[in-house]
Amino acid sequence: MICAERSLVSCRTDRYRRARLCGIERAICGARRRLLTFKLKESPEGHMFRRVAALTMGICLGALVQHAGARAGDRSPTMGETSPADVVLARRVLMAGIGRNMDEITGMIEDAAAFNLGEAREHADVVSAMLLAFPHLFPIETDTWSEKLAEDDPAHVSLALPTVWQNYDDFVGRAQQASQIALDASFAATAAQFKAVAKGLQQACDSCHQAYRRP
Ligand code: HEC
Repeated sequence: MICAERSLVSCRTDRYRRARLCGIERAICGARRRLLTFKLKESPEGHMFRRVAALTMGICLGALVQHAGARAGDRSPTMGETSPADVVLARRVLMAGIGRNMDEITGMIEDAAAFNLGEAREHADVVSAMLLAFPHLFPIETDTWSEKLAEDDPAHVSLALPTVWQNYDDFVGRAQQASQIALDASFAATAAQFKAVAKGLQQACDSCHQAYRRP
């Protein structure tokens, strides 16, 4: 599942924000690609593509080494990754992954013929694991939203509201609660049971966004 193949932004769960978020998607994808190496799919053009990719990667690495020198203070074994922009990108990519898995779940629930309990449970398990990690990516330095940054660097600007840091215990509690609901869904014994629990999960997503994410 790579950027080029799948939409990074969850479009089903975020229908009303779709236009804006999908516009930002490209930028997040680009930033993620600059950070990570994506496996290329085998294809007749693959060989040429790989060479171009390798060349591009070489150029990027050169730039990165130069950049790393300037940013050596951003990372340490005691503090972890502290470059706010990178932490924001990581949690947005994480949340987008949660969104994609939830999209799969919602899609299966809406189309009875497509429902597969085993797959649905797996998606729920992934959502549960990701939700547990999510609130640990919110150091206070990452309260970075501003209108200017949103325009200049849409991939690295945070859409979290300052309320995250004002009510941090509640924020973490909600993430854990949602993670628990997803875990419960991953243990559902029947389709009906799964659907009932998934409904509660969707509510947990929506209510947290209402309290902690920019509309
Ligand atoms: C504990 C609160 C909380 C819960 C629970 C939660 N979210 Fe989020 N979500 C957020 C916050 C905060 C952001 C904005 C993060 C940022 O931009 O820094 C966000 C962002 C997103 C995004 C946009 C990602 C991007 O492209 O930037 C999607 C999609 C999303 N959430 C889907 C979901 C789904 C689906 C669920 C439920 C399975 C869920 N969220 C549960 C708080 C939550």
